[in-house]
Amino acid sequence: MRVVILGSGRGSNAEAILLAQQAGRLGRARVVQIFADKPDAGILALGPRFGVEAAFLDAAPFKTKLDGAAEEHYIAAIMACRPDLVVLAGFMRVIKPRFLAAFEGKIINLHPSLLPSFPGLDGIGQAWRRGVKIAGCTVHRVTAEVDGGPILDQAAVRIEETDTLEESFAQKIHAAEHALLPAVIARLSEAG
Ligand code: GAR
Repeated sequence: MRVVILGSGRGSNAEAILLAQQAGRLGRARVVQIFADKPDAGILALGPRFGVEAAFLDAAPFKTKLDGAAEEHYIAAIMACRPDLVVLAGFMRVIKPRFLAAFEGKIINLHPSLLPSFPGLDGIGQAWRRGVKIAGCTVHRVTAEVDGGPILDQAAVRIEETDTLEESFAQKIHAAEHALLPAVIARLSEAG
């Protein structure tokens, strides 16, 4: 199963996927390409480290969506990788219908909350400010509804009295993500 990862940030989830692959825990999945919409995104440094192609793809002039000529450019570049699965691992843009149609049924997203609670930006901060006691993360199929596609799996995290937003709570969510996302990819690869 050929996997293309899209990201915008530090890439800790892409790293978790690549570490799982290295350890033989990614089933029949193999990461063939990483793309980032920011030239200085940490995720791009994973390419040389893991021997995977990694490239910046400009999505300007839009800041929060993938649209217009940039969307076409993304579709062509990803198509050329012949992906069986496109993983949004911290890719902070809204995906539009043309991109969805190009990779129908093949796109999954990681979100740092127990959807359908706290969709959109800053899922971790939203859960923290709402004062929930059980939070977590979700991997779901991507549809036109932002953070609304069918849920593939979730992991829960308990918020303790002693937790702080930045130091311990966010860390717990990220640790849960790092276990969940590779496990879902491995499972999908075995099912496919
Ligand atoms: C992750 O926490 C992921 O859930 C979140 O971005 C972070 C990326 O971290 N995604 C979203 O909020 C999507 N709405 P990473 O770059 O270290 O993998």
